[in-house]
Amino acid sequence: MMGYQETFRASIEEPETFWREAATAIDWHRAPERVLDGTAAPFYRWYPDGQLNACHNALDRHVQAGHGDRAALIYDSPVTGTKKIYTYSQMLEEVARFAGALTKIGVGHGDRVVIYMPMVPEAAIAMLACARIGAVHSVVFGGFAPNELAIRIDDAAPKAVVTASCGIEGTRIIEYKPLLERAFELADHSPDHCIVLQRPQAVAELGDRDLDWSEMIATAKPVACVPVVSTDPLYILYTSGTTGKPKGVVRDTGGYAVALAWSMRAIYDVGPGETMFSASDVGWVVGHSYIVYGPLLAGATTVFFEGKPVGTPDPGQFWRVIAENQVKALFTAPTSLRAIKKEDSEGSFLDDYDLSSLSTVFLAGERLDPETLRWTQDRLGIPVIDHWWQTETGWPVAANLVGREPLPVKPGSASVAVPGWNITVVDAVGGPVPRGTDGTILLKLPLPPGALTTLWNDDERYISSYLSEYPGYYATGDGGHIDDDGYVFIMGRTDDVINVAGHRLSTGTMEEALAAHPAVAECAVIGVADPLKGQLPRGFVVLKAGDHHDEATVVADLIALVRNRIGAVAALKDISIVPALPKTRSGKILRKTMRGIADGADESAPSTIEDIAVLDALRPVLRRD
Ligand code: COA
Ligand code: AMP
Repeated sequence: MMGYQETFRASIEEPETFWREAATAIDWHRAPERVLDGTAAPFYRWYPDGQLNACHNALDRHVQAGHGDRAALIYDSPVTGTKKIYTYSQMLEEVARFAGALTKIGVGHGDRVVIYMPMVPEAAIAMLACARIGAVHSVVFGGFAPNELAIRIDDAAPKAVVTASCGIEGTRIIEYKPLLERAFELADHSPDHCIVLQRPQAVAELGDRDLDWSEMIATAKPVACVPVVSTDPLYILYTSGTTGKPKGVVRDTGGYAVALAWSMRAIYDVGPGETMFSASDVGWVVGHSYIVYGPLLAGATTVFFEGKPVGTPDPGQFWRVIAENQVKALFTAPTSLRAIKKEDSEGSFLDDYDLSSLSTVFLAGERLDPETLRWTQDRLGIPVIDHWWQTETGWPVAANLVGREPLPVKPGSASVAVPGWNITVVDAVGGPVPRGTDGTILLKLPLPPGALTTLWNDDERYISSYLSEYPGYYATGDGGHIDDDGYVFIMGRTDDVINVAGHRLSTGTMEEALAAHPAVAECAVIGVADPLKGQLPRGFVVLKAGDHHDEATVVADLIALVRNRIGAVAALKDISIVPALPKTRSGKILRKTMRGIADGADESAPSTIEDIAVLDALRPVLRRD
């Protein structure tokens, strides 16, 4: 087998040969003759004449090959005290039946289905059922508020919404149905049906358009897989951009299946019969790629964990799950490990469990600080791999190829470029920077299979957001550098996106929420460094002249406003009322300068500043002097 350098070179020099070979890991209803179609560049299409079904590849083929008794999904829910194993045969039965239920209510090829569910196996069943009949799923993270859900419903225009009666956050029961009803009130689009999975913790009252999951399943007939064209969308996943309107990342079917299957072996080194535990949520891209599709495409076992790393009931949960299920690879966000470390700095809970099955820990979603890396390495004594990717890319862009040729770990680096991804760093005017120098990180087109193909119903925004600033390249929105050994260092976003506890959020959306308050004249939200959550948002608000509201009341109202509009996950709890915001002479708020000061950098004021006195007055507030 080729080592890292050779594999990387082959993928860049002869991409079509490389990805033709990789495509043999997938079952095709019609094998692709063409690998890459660039005739409509910058829109690229992988395997344009191939036909396949993602659900067939994730389930049916493993059962047909005689592995029906193998565990496909292990539902481990400390918050409900439940553990349930679904074999591949059982999973197939459930999915085929739910696909039948969807077909019965008129959902078919190309129709959208929004899935707004907590971490219950039915969320994966619903996703795979959509894939089975060629419907396009769009999973919305359960922590988003009705307003965010409504925006996504309007954009995706789903025929049906699938939900559960409640989610469980620690000891808190969150009823989903009222949130959904509120979203339906806010949205212009009205889905025909709402399918509700009733959970015993809170049973929802069903209305006219509602259907009970169990009742539907009881009468539904299983249906077979519908072959789709490789370029047909498998799903839309909304992610934060710089404005209030989220971006509907479109994922194709064939390219994604090939890329995930390749990554499962080459990067994660997880194959048939082995277990992967991705401690994330189906609402995020990690959940799509490495809780649901990746492990199942590989014939492996996935752990579906409903809980938090700490507090449910103790900081030993991850270790328990690993020991009980012989987990080979753990994938989580650094923030989870920091949360565990905070409660169990000695790692004493580790002693209670046999972790000999665990080979590697993979971390992503935010920067891995060297201290957390060291702590995890010291406690576990196995490789801890930082790797970098985005909702848009669908799978890792920088990583360590553990299944090919593991390279040494460099603290602070998100490892090396993954085969298929041609990473370049440029300066402010688009020129290449020398090795080791920070700049804007770009990916050369065409992106490999598995990356986004466009934004839902918005080709123009796809181009303007990612492709127009540097023609021939995809702009990642991340800044950083590549060192002499080819290691990639991600230093942070170059736009208004922040990462709070591994959750990607837009400060622009938060500003839009704050600006809706009648007392607010203008505002700025910045992400500042936080030792536990990586980043936390801080808001700065200027009140309208002559406003007589009590400041404490305004702050409390604003915190509630953001929580109600975006969701608890926005975590904006720190808002300061200030007399003015520092701006450039052209009126742009100096968010980057504010962020630098808040994070302790001794930045000199930019030469374009309008009024230096405003910045000087804000300095002590930013620094919390
Ligand atoms: N539904 C409803 N509310 C949710 C939610 C969900 N699915 N997820 C989070 N929230 C709420 C939380 O309860 C919390 O509410 P509170 O302000 O009332 O306490 C708020 O949103 C903020 O959540 P979070 O930032 O996640 O903080 P936390 O203290 O609940 O948990 C961690 C902290 C680190 C344990 C948790 O964020 C975590 O596991 N992060 C990893 C994320 C991840 O896997 N990302 C994917 C990349 S790998
Ligand atoms: P998301 O789309 O939610 O997966 O978030 C993607 C963003 O998270 C990236 O653009 C980065 O800013 C950040 N990110 C992801 N992985 C890493 C990493 N390993 N190191 C630093 N930042 C990361």
